[in-house]
Parts: sequence; structure tokens; C-alpha cells
Amino acid sequence: MELSINFSNFPILESERLLLREVTPDDVKEVFQLRSDKEIMKYIPRVPAQTLEDALEHIQILSETKEKEEGISWGICQKGEDKIMGIIGLYRINKPNFRAEVGYILDPKFHGKGFVSEAIQLVIDFGFNTCKFHTLTAIIDPRNSASEKVLQRANFQKEAHFKEDFYFNGEFLDSVHYSIINKK
Ligand SMILES: CC(C)(COP(=O)(O)OP(=O)(O)OC[C@H]1O[C@@H](n2cnc3c(N)ncnc32)[C@H](O)[C@@H]1OP(=O)(O)O)[C@@H](O)C(=O)NCCC(=O)NCCS
Repeated sequence: MELSINFSNFPILESERLLLREVTPDDVKEVFQLRSDKEIMKYIPRVPAQTLEDALEHIQILSETKEKEEGISWGICQKGEDKIMGIIGLYRINKPNFRAEVGYILDPKFHGKGFVSEAIQLVIDFGFNTCKFHTLTAIIDPRNSASEKVLQRANFQKEAHFKEDFYFNGEFLDSVHYSIINKK
């Protein structure tokens, strides 16, 4: 059994309403908006972007991560719109165990319309059918009910609730682990 990871020809994914494409330096403004928004970053234990340079550096990291085959990120666009309204990706690719972690953020203007639920289906399909991962995981803050709903709706199962296992910003945070296993 082998993973089939090849991101050199960037995989564009499409659903009824969405197009997922590569994030480029041209998206710096939108990436800055997403990564600096307090509401979006509320349950993401990362330092928010302070400047456009931080956002540019983030885009660079996404690109390096892809080149090293450690992860892949897509900008989430509505079909016919070039502006990204969010980012979704597979991160922390764990080749020996055929695992990867799913993560996503969406501009609050577009929340509650099922966009991330639609995008995650494309990413699950890509992860299982193209890359041949066995398990996709997601790690969330237990207070993040919107994210939990997205995962439950996509048939992720709760596997664990770790107490105060992540130290961020002077606080010990709980993490809830969800996963979906490729049964094929
Ligand atoms: C989590 C997130 C991606 C959900 O995206 P979305 O496209 O709004 O998801 P959906 O439209 O499928 O909605 C999911 C559910 O959460 C609910 N929801 C949406 N925004 C919410 C909010 N701010 N607070 C509470 N619930 C919310 C929706 O009503 C929906 O529930 P319902 O189907 O019972 O009505 C989005 O809220 C987000 O970007 N949050 C900030 C970043 C983040 O926390 N990312 C995940 C890190 S693990």
C-alpha cells in the first residue's frame, strides 16, 4: 500500500457552488483579513496576523509546506468569484500512518451557508480517493460548536477530549480530536 501524493500539478477542486484553488501572494489582503480577524481566530491557537507581511509570510509557509509534501491548502472561492473567502487544507501529513489533519477558516460574512461543509467534502474526497489517506483528523477547541457541527455533518467521529494539553497565550487549552476513516 502506498500514498499517492503529488501536489506539483496543483489540484483544483470544484463542487456545485465552490472552486478550491491555490492561495498565491495576490491573495495577501484576503489572507490578512482572515488571519487577523478576532472572531475567526477565537478558537485557533495561533498568533493572529498583525501586518500584510505576516500574511505574506503565511502564504509562503503554505507554499513551502506543499512543496515538502507536509500539507496542502486551498483558497475557497465561490464559482465566478476570484476572491478567496476562506482557506481549507490538509496539514501535518503523516505518511507512515496514512494520516493528515483537516483545518479551515471562513470569512464570517459567509458563515452559516454551508460553504465549509461543502468544501470539506471535496477535501475528504481528495484525501481518500486521490492521496489514499486512511484517516483524516481534526483537532478543535471544545467551545467551537460551529466547527464541531461541520465535522459531525461530514461523518467525523469524536475520538478523544484531551484536558489542558495545549499551552497558548498563558492558558492551558483542551483539545477535542475528531476523525474519519476511509473504509474502502
Ligand atoms: C467553523 C466554520 C469554518 C464553519 O463554517 P460555516 O461555513 O459557517 O459552516 P456551516 O455553514 O456548515 O455551519 C455549521 C453550523 O455551525 C453554525 N454556525 C455557523 N457560524 C456559527 C457561529 N459563529 N457560532 C455558532 N454556530 C455557528 C451554523 O448555524 C451551522 O449549524 P446548523 O446547520 O445547525 O445551522 C466557521 O465558523 C469558521 O471559519 N470559524 C472560525 C475559524 C475556525 O474556528 N475554524 C476551525 C478551526 S478547527
